[in-house]
Amino acid sequence: MSAPMRPPRVAPALAWLETHGSPLYVYDLGEVEQRARELMSVLPAGSRLLFSLKANPLPVMAEVLCRMGCDAEVSSPGELSVALAAGFSPEQVLYSGPGKSAEEVRGALGLGVTRFSAESWTDLERVDRASRAARLRSRVLLRVNPDTPPLARLAMSGVSSQFGLDEVEWRAGRERLAALSGIELLGVHVYQGTQLADVPALLSSLRMAFEAGEALASALDLPFQVLDLGGGFPWPFATPGTGLELAALREPLARWAAERRKTASCELWFESGRRLCGSSGTLWATVLDVKRSKGKQYVVLDTGIHHLGGMSGLGRVPLVGMGVARAGGEVAPEVLEEVNVVGPLCTPLDCFARNVKLPPLRVGDRVFVPNVGAYGATASLTGFLSRPPPLELAHREAELVAVHRLRWGHEPQARPPLEGALSEESR
Ligand SMILES: Cc1ncc(COP(=O)(O)O)c(C=O)c1O
Repeated sequence: MSAPMRPPRVAPALAWLETHGSPLYVYDLGEVEQRARELMSVLPAGSRLLFSLKANPLPVMAEVLCRMGCDAEVSSPGELSVALAAGFSPEQVLYSGPGKSAEEVRGALGLGVTRFSAESWTDLERVDRASRAARLRSRVLLRVNPDTPPLARLAMSGVSSQFGLDEVEWRAGRERLAALSGIELLGVHVYQGTQLADVPALLSSLRMAFEAGEALASALDLPFQVLDLGGGFPWPFATPGTGLELAALREPLARWAAERRKTASCELWFESGRRLCGSSGTLWATVLDVKRSKGKQYVVLDTGIHHLGGMSGLGRVPLVGMGVARAGGEVAPEVLEEVNVVGPLCTPLDCFARNVKLPPLRVGDRVFVPNVGAYGATASLTGFLSRPPPLELAHREAELVAVHRLRWGHEPQARPPLEGALSEESR
């Protein structure tokens, strides 16, 4: 059973706001460990769980998940360096993403990473070329875009997308694959979409991933070693609540794992970012102003879309659900006022919530947004309006473990980039 999310710890957070300033992301590492244990417990025996650093590349988050026994899924040189510094060995890293440059593939190989997910023929042949040049053999998963979409708000496969290749395109390339001496084909990668809402949605998309693996292994008749089934394991975002109970996945996943034929000897991999770190993070902020405008009440915070949900400007992020805290604990929602909660940026898009009911707020009050441990700070518009990125603090049982601030700003460059045609090597 999923343990309920622990409520944010008000007293230590108020003290940290005094010491470290506001706004402040606070991460509870015990939550991360709890979520990792829960997720691992429903996966078939012998499966690997990859932590997707895109959800939260905070160094201490990666360290905790490395210690919990995860591998790492990275999609940029920055995520790779966090993963390696956190203790993941290069052999534990899967390098994925639809636009890997030759330079970053070379960089990853130079750091000892040889596991890549190939998202197209161009991508695969780029990895092959770089591997041969480095006298290495990369171990590659073919990312497949299955034919059916998942039941997800943000479908990344099963629809026309930049992710992976339609199965028929990989199928048709048996000879082309055989000619690539810089790679060994490790298996198949499917990632259907994030935030799959319920157990039926998760099961249907994981089932589809099993089938895609079987189909491609049969069509290519190759001895695959890995079937990466993706994930999409959900957790509420920026609103109170506890994530979906996952126990109902255990039995069908174990059964499907046992029923495999062509991929029977494949290790099963799953990926997760949101489920592992979403519940651990709370964004704490301070009320800077309270005012009325043409009959409506506005609460101005010292945080906004540069710290959380930068994509709200694109209509993606739902209304943020907030709590209010004063010395003595969370303010009970007894008397409520309808307010618009906005940030300090000079754009009307900097709005967390419209017409929400909150306890009456005063300047200096502390407010918090729960469930922002994934796709929070680094998924925001941190550069917009040149305000500093938020401070991020991690604790275990209210004992401080780490404090970080994202780097931000313009680095002067020694000279303008070289002009001229791309060399053959950099294509
Ligand atoms: C290939 C891949 N793996 C894993 C993830 C992590 O998804 P989530 O954070 O929903 O678990 C994503 C998210 O976009 C992804 O694209």
